[in-house]
Amino acid sequence: MKLIFYTLFLWVLVSYIVQAQPLPSPTEWQKELEEWIPKQYNRSVEGIFDNINRPGTAKGCIVAADSKKQPDYYYNWIRDAAITMQVVVTMYERATDPKEIDRLETIIKEYIAFNHKLQHTPNYNGNFYTGGLGAAHFLVNGSAYPGGWCTENDGPALRALAVIKFTYAYLQKGGNISYIRDHVFGPTNNTLTRADLDYIARVWPNENCGPWEELYGIHFFDQYLQRTALLRGVKLAKKLGYDDIAKHYQKSADDITQVLPSYIAKDFGIVLESVNTTHDTNHETFLDTSTILAIIHGYNHDDVFAPTNEYVIGTANMLRLVFQDIYPVNMRKEQSEGTLFGRFPDDIYDGYTSDVPGNPWILCTLGMAQYYYELAAEWLKHEKIVIGKWSKDFFKHLKVMPPGPPTPESTTTITGKAICSYVSALLEEGDRVLNAIRRHTIPSGMFTEEIDRYTGFEQGAINLTWSYDAFVTAVWSREDVHKYFSHYCEPPSPVSPSPPMMGPGPSP
Ligand SMILES: *[C@@H]1O[C@H](CO)[C@@H](O)[C@H](O)[C@H]1NC(C)=O
Ligand SMILES: *[C@@H]1O[C@H](CO)[C@@H](O)[C@H](O)[C@H]1NC(C)=O
Ligand SMILES: *[C@@H]1O[C@H](CO)[C@@H](O)[C@H](O)[C@H]1NC(C)=O
Ligand SMILES: *[C@@H]1O[C@H](CO)[C@@H](O)[C@H](O)[C@H]1NC(C)=O
Ligand SMILES: *[C@@H]1O[C@H](CO)[C@@H](O)[C@H](O)[C@H]1NC(C)=O
Ligand SMILES: *[C@@H]1O[C@H](CO)[C@@H](O)[C@H](O)[C@H]1NC(C)=O
Repeated sequence: MKLIFYTLFLWVLVSYIVQAQPLPSPTEWQKELEEWIPKQYNRSVEGIFDNINRPGTAKGCIVAADSKKQPDYYYNWIRDAAITMQVVVTMYERATDPKEIDRLETIIKEYIAFNHKLQHTPNYNGNFYTGGLGAAHFLVNGSAYPGGWCTENDGPALRALAVIKFTYAYLQKGGNISYIRDHVFGPTNNTLTRADLDYIARVWPNENCGPWEELYGIHFFDQYLQRTALLRGVKLAKKLGYDDIAKHYQKSADDITQVLPSYIAKDFGIVLESVNTTHDTNHETFLDTSTILAIIHGYNHDDVFAPTNEYVIGTANMLRLVFQDIYPVNMRKEQSEGTLFGRFPDDIYDGYTSDVPGNPWILCTLGMAQYYYELAAEWLKHEKIVIGKWSKDFFKHLKVMPPGPPTPESTTTITGKAICSYVSALLEEGDRVLNAIRRHTIPSGMFTEEIDRYTGFEQGAINLTWSYDAFVTAVWSREDVHKYFSHYCEPPSPVSPSPPMMGPGPSP
């Protein structure tokens, strides 16, 4: 009886407290978000550089996470390291302080030297000639991982993208072209990027484990990034005068362009992560966030699976609907929070062990926020939005639909300043997703890999480098699109009357 009384009392008290505290109004969460972003940005940059050249690791090594057990991610993963290098290279491009330019250039050149050594380190996947470049990871001292692991062909593509980006920035800053010919892209493939692209040009059709190391097959993520890497290689080869090489890479890129449309599931309006691969209980749909991540990491600005592609928007929308439904943490979210995204619906890895229900991932969620910002930027750039059969549900979710619903087969096109309300709604959706990350991560700003699907607390590998990378690049995309937006959509501030001209002037 007493217990019932106390329970009732507590219940009343709790309901009182809940009612007494009004939910923050939209402007409050937005204000909190704006305060959090610069702090988390600095923490993320710190998190990235802490995992580069850690004490006791070889120069140029980047560990996937500051986590040696439960789970052990203390290795140099080729993919994760390359994604990190893309961030470092962007900082290098933007740097103006000579000391900062030097510091970053040293880090990047150490990465290039270390990765050249890894390319020539025989490992579970073969040697330099037989497929060793498909190794997923190496020990932090640069030795081969002593056990077995499956092949991953996204790493060389991401590495080539990062190093080619560096090459242009380096030459633009007055760098030494002999360094590029000797170490990056020379007459033979004893140079880092030539070897990566030679390898990709050969293996792109092959099955491998893809970005999540969960599915043996061919992957949209891999082939999309491989195509972009090859095309950037074509440009660089021409610039350096290697025309035969350019032709060779162009041929493989064209072949990939031919097969990419087969990833479209026309009846569902989405881009699949894999095709021509056997389904299993963990991959019943091939709906996967890596499709969107491929586009944010490797869109080549040539209209091939652009962020604005009807099927790409359809994929983003389907991912939102599915993850909204399967994660309890999403079901009880507030208005100010966007959906938390995982890798794929039937994921069975929870950051520690397999054969359990999977979780939302920080880098997937941030990748989706970045996608929203980049989609908004594309709309602004083209001053045009096309709403079609598969994307119209996404616009409904944004609560911006033109009057008169489009018939199933028809499309609606919006142009000029009329796009601004759509862009603004999408930017707010991106901010809600960032805000969900703010609410589910700890105040110190430490990012793990995942967020528990039930409790909403962080879990899995601590200080995961890729999570920090994803935050930094999402913030950059957000800044860029805000610049476009205020330029195009916001009324110019009233021009103050120009001061009277001083000095001699035409007399009235
Ligand atoms: C972030 O770091 C920069 C450079 O160190 C510093 O100027 C800035 O005040 C920091 N911002 C915050 C919010 O901590
Ligand atoms: C994570 O990294 C930070 C420095 O970036 C370090 O201070 C901290 O001890 C690491 N581990 C945890 C659990 O936060
Ligand atoms: C790298 O570390 C491993 C494991 O600690 C060790 O067996 C190997 O000999 C080391 N390699 C070098 C080159 O020091
Ligand atoms: C340019 O790099 C090459 C090695 O790649 C080096 O031999 C040469 O001294 C460098 N030149 C300058 C001016 O730094
Ligand atoms: C580099 O070129 C040689 C000779 O053409 C070839 O045998 C080797 O497989 C190439 N390396 C890679 C990583 O593709
Ligand atoms: C999948 O197989 C079909 C039929 O053989 C083929 O046309 C298509 O190009 C393949 N897709 C990819 C991405 O390899």
